[in-house]
Amino acid sequence: MAELPPYSHEMNWPQELQPFKVVDDGSQGDPYEHYRWMRENAPVLRCQSATSDVWFLSRYDDVWQAIRNPKLFSSEVVSPPPLTFLTLFDAPGHTRLRKVAQPSFMPLAIEPFAAEIERRAEALIDALIAKGGGDVVEDFAIPLSIATISAMIDVPDEDEEKMKFWSDETFSYFGRLARNAPGTGTDEQSAMAFFAYLKEAMERLYLSNSQSIGGHIARMWKEGLLSEKEAKELCAFVFIAGHDTTTILVANAFRMFAEQPHLVSRIRQNEADAERFVEEVARYRGTVQRVSRMTTEETTVAGVTLPKGAVVRLLLSSANRDSRKFADGDTFNIDRDTSGHLGFGNGIHKCLGQPLAKLETLITTRLIARKVADIALDPAHPVEYVRGNNLTNSGPAHLYVQLSRFK
Ligand code: HEM
Repeated sequence: MAELPPYSHEMNWPQELQPFKVVDDGSQGDPYEHYRWMRENAPVLRCQSATSDVWFLSRYDDVWQAIRNPKLFSSEVVSPPPLTFLTLFDAPGHTRLRKVAQPSFMPLAIEPFAAEIERRAEALIDALIAKGGGDVVEDFAIPLSIATISAMIDVPDEDEEKMKFWSDETFSYFGRLARNAPGTGTDEQSAMAFFAYLKEAMERLYLSNSQSIGGHIARMWKEGLLSEKEAKELCAFVFIAGHDTTTILVANAFRMFAEQPHLVSRIRQNEADAERFVEEVARYRGTVQRVSRMTTEETTVAGVTLPKGAVVRLLLSSANRDSRKFADGDTFNIDRDTSGHLGFGNGIHKCLGQPLAKLETLITTRLIARKVADIALDPAHPVEYVRGNNLTNSGPAHLYVQLSRFK
């Protein structure tokens, strides 16, 4: 293959597109035009950030090779990881933590929560339909995903709001630690309050022999398989990893129905199509745009040499649109074969919460098909995208739809 130039962000970005940003400030909520350009013109795109160069991989094969090779593409971008967040560890630390956490994510462990998720989702959609629509992020997806993850961890309903606040603050605290950036300290105080709350919750869950994820982590702690610090931080990580991501996927399910309303009646007539729909939303409008890795040796990708220690972002959402892997990849098509899509990652870090996230989105999809007649994006409110310090998730912060009841 011919040597491709290691594209620099300033020099080579085409005029018709806004420059691609290393840290998304919300202007790139819909980055698929950029991704298309990158796959064709700069499959290995080097961008300069304030602190270092960042390399973006956008083609399916390159992302796949990298995500499947954790020895060469390390997850310990910050070493040692500042908090016990599974995604930040390489083997052997990762192997141990994952083995401990895994049993509580098995589909069977999630089954008992399905009825409760459905009950909550039904109440939320009925309220939304009753007022003719609204912001599906605020009025549906956030309350559903927070209630679900709280039930999975087994913390009381009335604490959901403060958990959401603490969780967002803990995420920015972590981002600051990872960048070694100064801060006001309020995010640190919130993170400490969150950890203290979770410690107390786990004491209680241990005594009551709770069969939740929180109860499981508590037992691992009390049996000495995890330290107290690890148990608290792992629990916090599950909360953080489990709600923002799902919020966006659920909201994107509404969006795809609003953009292709014929799918509502199609799925109403054939509920089996609901699963295909969910899988295609995860491919076409996934939540986690990119995951970070660091090269442990000099290596060559698509003819471009990456130095040892290069910070690499694997663009999962671009890989998922690559027509070399998924024919006509920029088209939403629930009849396609989505196997191999990277919406939930792959390799040793493949998402543990995938069954839960899919279950929530599937329940939502079936409810829309069953209860909604017409659905459209509300022209009075353009889609607003998540902005801020979040390096990985991208999707709507607000998404207004108009809805009418079926029958
Ligand atoms: C890891 C996506 C929901 C727990 C990951 C990774 C991705 C991902 C891409 C891999 C990260 C990497 O390779 O660095 C998503 C999406 C979700 C979702 C798109 C929703 C639509 C959830 C939920 C939970 C969860 C609901 C928990 C209940 C985890 C955990 C890991 C992980 C524990 C770490 C696995 C490891 O490092 O071994 N997720 N996730 N996720 N996810 Fe999810």
